[in-house]
Amino acid sequence: MDAFKQHFDEKIDKELTIEPKDWMPDEYRKTLIRQISQHAHSEIVGMLPEGNWITRAPSLRRKAVLLAKVQDEAGHGLYLYSAAETLGISRDEMLDQLHTGKAKYSSIFNYPTITWADMGAIGWLVDGAAIMNQVPLCRTSYGPYARAMVRVCKEESFHQRQGFEIMLTLSNGSAIQKKMAQDALNRWWWPSLMMFGPPDAESPHTEQSVRWRIKRFTNDELRQKFVDVTVEQAKVLGLTIPDPELKWNEERGHYDMGPINWDEFWNVVKGNGPCNKQRLDTRRQAWEDGAWVRDAAMAYANKKAARSNKKTAEAA
Ligand SMILES: [Fe+2]
Ligand SMILES: [Fe+2]
Repeated sequence: MDAFKQHFDEKIDKELTIEPKDWMPDEYRKTLIRQISQHAHSEIVGMLPEGNWITRAPSLRRKAVLLAKVQDEAGHGLYLYSAAETLGISRDEMLDQLHTGKAKYSSIFNYPTITWADMGAIGWLVDGAAIMNQVPLCRTSYGPYARAMVRVCKEESFHQRQGFEIMLTLSNGSAIQKKMAQDALNRWWWPSLMMFGPPDAESPHTEQSVRWRIKRFTNDELRQKFVDVTVEQAKVLGLTIPDPELKWNEERGHYDMGPINWDEFWNVVKGNGPCNKQRLDTRRQAWEDGAWVRDAAMAYANKKAARSNKKTAEAA
């Protein structure tokens, strides 16, 4: 076993990827299953707040773009479930954990989408934060996860730009439209900062995950990067970030920010956010409604397999 572990550690140190058939420590496997499945769940639950606006998009162009974006998120879920499956967990098991509330997904998706401007704020801020998190994951140590992230990140950058474009249009529109954009920014700003997870001091797994190159930056480092980039973008929009303590710190070369309400974060994580129940109910319903599709696909696959077995038997 020690030789296996030594080989694993060497691969990590040499920045080589770990592949499904390689030996890996149990904790490494467990951490990845948790992280990748949580990520997959976030992609598909993340379709819900925006799916809510597809029928109400203000133009055909906006509708087509939003539809493409929401479909991309379904695709991200599929790549990630497939990546997690290579670690020895089944898709049914993962979905069961989601539907029974055992598995978590990003708590940002437990907030409601009240106006069209929320589609802008989500693309700009939520997909923007996702990019900050996910770009370093293209170099994460587990091969299937890293490779899935390459395509995901390309699509995320389209999502971020479509959101920013909605915000830009609204900001340059009528006074009411600009107010709508500002209101969306006010509601989504703090939850977006929470997306990076608890502060480093309260994030017990961070050190090990950085050591294993699952994580390449800590939560606080990524949050700071996001703030530094996004503040400049808010200036272009002419919108005000709802943080009176936000201030450029010459010495650090970064923006200082006000305190995050972590009580709110933990409360949403524990299931008490404004939409937790609604989101899970919708997912469970979708799973039940899709049962006939899964049954039909299985029946077809079995029929096809039986036919090809018969052909092989006849040929022999
Ligand atoms: Fe995504
Ligand atoms: Fe996205």
